[in-house]
Amino acid sequence: MRKYLFVIGLFLTGKGFGQVHSAGNITSIKVQGQQLVLNMQHAVGEVTVYSPTVVRVRLDQRSLGRDFSYAVVNGPVATHIAVNQTPEAVTLQTDSLKVVISRKPFHVAFYTRDGRVINEDEQGLNTSWVNSFVTTYKHLQEGERFIGLGEKTGGLDKRGNGYTNWNSDNFGYRTDKDPLYATFPFYIGIHHGLRYGIFFDNSWQTDFNFGASTDRFSSFGAHGGEMNYYFIAGAQVADIITSYTGLTGRMKLPPLWSLGYQQNRYSYYPETEVMRIAQTLREKKIPADGITLDIHYMDKYKVFTWDKQRFPDPAAMSAKLAAMGFKLTVIVDPGVKREEGYEVYERGKKAGAFIKYPDSTDYNGQVWPGWCAFPDFTGVKGRAWWEKEIGKYASDGISGIWNDMNEIATWGQKMPDNVLFNNEGETASHLQMHNVYGLNMARASFEGFRQHLKRRPFVLTRSGYAGLQRYSAIWTGDNRSEEDHMLLGVRMLCNLGLAGVPFTGMDVGGFTGNPSVGLYVRWMQVGSFNPYMRNHTAVNTKSGEPWAYGEQAMEIVRNYIALRYRLLPYAYSNFYEATQNGLPLMRTLALDYTDDAAIYRPAFENQFMYGRAFMVAPFTGSEGFGNIYFPAGNWYDLYTDKVIKGGQELVAPLTMSKLPVYVREGSIVPMQSLVQHTGELPSDTLLVHVYAGTSGSSFLYYEDDGTGYNYEKGDYYRRSITYDPATRQLVLGKVQGNYPSKFKFIKFALHGFGENELIAGGQKAGSEFESLLTPVSKFDPQADASEPEGHIIRTITVSNGAGEMVLKYQ
Ligand code: GLC
Repeated sequence: MRKYLFVIGLFLTGKGFGQVHSAGNITSIKVQGQQLVLNMQHAVGEVTVYSPTVVRVRLDQRSLGRDFSYAVVNGPVATHIAVNQTPEAVTLQTDSLKVVISRKPFHVAFYTRDGRVINEDEQGLNTSWVNSFVTTYKHLQEGERFIGLGEKTGGLDKRGNGYTNWNSDNFGYRTDKDPLYATFPFYIGIHHGLRYGIFFDNSWQTDFNFGASTDRFSSFGAHGGEMNYYFIAGAQVADIITSYTGLTGRMKLPPLWSLGYQQNRYSYYPETEVMRIAQTLREKKIPADGITLDIHYMDKYKVFTWDKQRFPDPAAMSAKLAAMGFKLTVIVDPGVKREEGYEVYERGKKAGAFIKYPDSTDYNGQVWPGWCAFPDFTGVKGRAWWEKEIGKYASDGISGIWNDMNEIATWGQKMPDNVLFNNEGETASHLQMHNVYGLNMARASFEGFRQHLKRRPFVLTRSGYAGLQRYSAIWTGDNRSEEDHMLLGVRMLCNLGLAGVPFTGMDVGGFTGNPSVGLYVRWMQVGSFNPYMRNHTAVNTKSGEPWAYGEQAMEIVRNYIALRYRLLPYAYSNFYEATQNGLPLMRTLALDYTDDAAIYRPAFENQFMYGRAFMVAPFTGSEGFGNIYFPAGNWYDLYTDKVIKGGQELVAPLTMSKLPVYVREGSIVPMQSLVQHTGELPSDTLLVHVYAGTSGSSFLYYEDDGTGYNYEKGDYYRRSITYDPATRQLVLGKVQGNYPSKFKFIKFALHGFGENELIAGGQKAGSEFESLLTPVSKFDPQADASEPEGHIIRTITVSNGAGEMVLKYQ
């Protein structure tokens, strides 16, 4: 026991033993504006106030290096702070936070202004090093939950689990696999009605422990580099995401077509097959906007080439597709075939664009085309070369770039540690650069393609790092056609949303293997409520087009894709919101119902919100009944308008033809008439659904041309739509921006407003029967015949004028 105490004592004073040591006692503190500069016995550091709710902590063993991040794009904002120093501690106080930095030894604690602990270092462990591995240990709070961390497997609440970030190619991964393809070292902790975020901005391999194999602490650490984290406080999870995206940036508006349905497979070729898919989508009236070409379009998998036999004239094919309302996306891998005379390779070599060994020879690894060189996206030279090359696609009529294999994936999956990267002029090894490679490929593709295309490009990536939302959408890689994968996919997209990435998707239907008809249908229904909806499947699997699973399946799927298209005004406005505050379209219930224990239960953790209005319960295809949890408040059944009281769980009979979807009371949902693609004009009436509730809401409606950048100069149409039950009013706010709306009229569709409640002002609301789904023609053995296929709504139409308009109801 004496010996034990002695060892602990050594550790606390910072002497440590062998290769393990902590920062030790603070030996000096300098206050420089919003920053404290610290010297400790065994470390140096800085604590910087970024805003009243964001504080950055930086520590290293010797000296702090260049302050550079691929993730963070915004610095501190001027913040009023009060500093108080005592022999024991330094206290920083902002309008929202109190940060106490103890001196003996160095220990950080974050408190609310009224003194409740939000987050604090674990006494005795604090921040410490094992050789060059650095870890910060945080006291595990009673009942603490952990959510987020981006593309991670496991449950919604990650308590009791540990995770690693090392971007990896994962063909047909298991549902508990870790790590996967992308790194988002940002999580949110929840306890005692408090929430906070921690963003550990370190590109080396990082490890997170949320109380796995320990009941003492949560921790985050890296295999190299600095301890460099941002503590983010917020009253709500949404505030934390907004602050986090304030640091790491927000997505730009995507092209409208990328919100449409995307048909993909590994691979569609030759051209006649691509055209057959396009024509069949149109013939069968399945709305769609995109077709994606996988690796077989290339000449021997050589990037920036076409197989001329399969695709003799890509520009002409793109033009034919464009005339039918389709946009083409093509896959691009980072591996550039090492082949003399292959111009892309020769130019890359000449430009010095490839990553190298320390002896200045190119690193070569094998991937689809055989031996390849790999562009150095972490330096100006590599990116500039890529940005030029990618321009070729613009002249081929391509609209979207799909970045794949950018972990980097190579056959053997063991890229050497000593490969060197530019790292913006400060050469760094593979160990440091691995996790930011995919991010920088997406960045170069986005920047390059945008310059050449002169309109909004669509960019998709498999790998990434924090901040990815600035350039690209992400999908969750090579999942399997299995029920658990559909549900895992839902959780991962919600986790990505928590990590500030709003534009997300998964291979709908599953990549490896073949789904059952029931699973296929369910997945397509769920996919209709994903931000990016792409059906994709691997080579040698069953086709995944909506007609490949029989007539009945097709009719059900068509209903849901059609619903997705009718909801485009709602979805696009939500994307606009993401550009403003970083909030995702697809949201875990933990975003709004953070303190409700039921939503974390395995039975309910897959339920998600699509924007603020819809709650989707994604059951697998084979289940006959489903247990659904309704959080506080009233909920409307989307199809029948039946009102369900929240705060309870209910068993619902499930039918294949209907995905359980509910609308939160008080919601506002703008919709349009059905179109077959986003290039087609809907009818001239915007349909604004309002669901009566005890509390109302406000919806920021947004419209623009959906393709260009003129919105940045004011060419948009934006107005708030407010429903206020207290004053019994619906208010169309004054129009902002210079873009003429495509809708001449606004028709309100009132749900739950009752028979006698009519809009005043001369006009009377009429009644209409509304059916969101077209009856499926074939017999559905699971369908409940007695269930009505629609419901009555009260409607009233006004012209879409620019001024404020107040509609009163009695
Ligand atoms: C990778 C991708 C997959 C693609 C395949 C062929 O496995 O994740 O989506 O179809 O490569 O390019």
